[in-house]
Amino acid sequence: MELTNKNFPALKNDRLLRAALGKEVDKVPVWVMRQAGRYLPEFQAVRAKHDFFTVCRTPELACEVTLQPLRRYPHLDASIIFSDILVIPQALGMTVEMHPGLGPVFPNPLKDPSEIDNLQEENAVSRLDYVGKAITLTRHKIEGKVPLIGFTGAPFTLMGYMIEGGGSKTMAKTKEWLEKYSNEVHKLLAMLSRVIVDYLVMQVESGAQLLQVFESSADHLPRELFKEFSAPYLKTIRSEVKRKLEAKQLEQVPMTVFAKGGGHSLDVQAGLGYETLGLDWTVDPIEARKIVGDNITLQGNLDPQDLYKKPEEIRSMTIDMVRKFGKHRYIANLGHGITPQTPLESMTAFTEAVHEAV
Ligand code: CP3
Repeated sequence: MELTNKNFPALKNDRLLRAALGKEVDKVPVWVMRQAGRYLPEFQAVRAKHDFFTVCRTPELACEVTLQPLRRYPHLDASIIFSDILVIPQALGMTVEMHPGLGPVFPNPLKDPSEIDNLQEENAVSRLDYVGKAITLTRHKIEGKVPLIGFTGAPFTLMGYMIEGGGSKTMAKTKEWLEKYSNEVHKLLAMLSRVIVDYLVMQVESGAQLLQVFESSADHLPRELFKEFSAPYLKTIRSEVKRKLEAKQLEQVPMTVFAKGGGHSLDVQAGLGYETLGLDWTVDPIEARKIVGDNITLQGNLDPQDLYKKPEEIRSMTIDMVRKFGKHRYIANLGHGITPQTPLESMTAFTEAVHEAV
């Protein structure tokens, strides 16, 4: 049988989708950001043979590493397609390399706003067609065990990498752009938003069942700048994805926004139209719920560093966390991605404890 986007196996575990949509669940759903990653020896084995972006670009390899955490941790209630947020700058014509130990490197970052015009918006999403293929293949290979999450970087986070040329502790150049070239910055953020919308719609068409938008660099934005340079684009992305799915007669999917370091703007985030808000570990679950109200799902937020504690301690911290969030409208996760040295048994303790907690 041909593996198309029309004949997917039926979904057997819909806890994640139910929680995102505010429906009742038998157990709290759990997944982990970066669950397919370097803490897994089987992931390291694939990476020893293939370059990072080769794994992203080869549907069979991307599918294999997406499935790896599910094999080891049967309590996981979701999978997230293996890719990276930086495939968008690549599709716009920028070179991005992944240097082991250093992270992503752009040999030619944007030096000034005149270079924005060199970015190739036209057909950018067709150059990301390999992500759609990986999603379709994975939806078949996952056999309906859990839903498959698609994702993207948010415009401000992507722009930061494109200007800084990689990860940056200070974001000094980006902050200079926000001050000096705010018109051009808004033009670039709007262009990135258009590409992101079509990219997300393509992911749904390919089989993604929930979409997460990573605003990982929100920790650099105080509230006022978050309201100017992040929130409006996140809002447009949500409403445009909805509108385009409808126009294409595709099924609607729930969406999550995760603004790391955005704890100062939860009220703003609650008004962006997303079904779920991701929280980093600095946010108190009870305070967050008070701010956002009852009509939105929360996701998070154990500190990834807590997974370096003993399994018994992880269990009790996790149960505590789940009790604070409560069973309704809640998806358990870490407050950011799992880190490379995390012991394998920590994930067992974390995922099992979520399902044991009430
Ligand atoms: O399992 C999953 O969560 C899916 C895969 C995934 C990766 N990157 C794989 C990856 C996802 C969702 C991402 C998103 C991503 N990529 C973000 C947003 C999430 C976040 O962490 O805030 C960001 C900022 C990036 C950019 C990026 N990619 C950085 C900063 C790094 C280096 C960090 C590091 O851990 O070294 C990457 C590399 C990367 N992306 C790895 C993985 C598994 C490790 C690189 C490797 O295998 O050599």
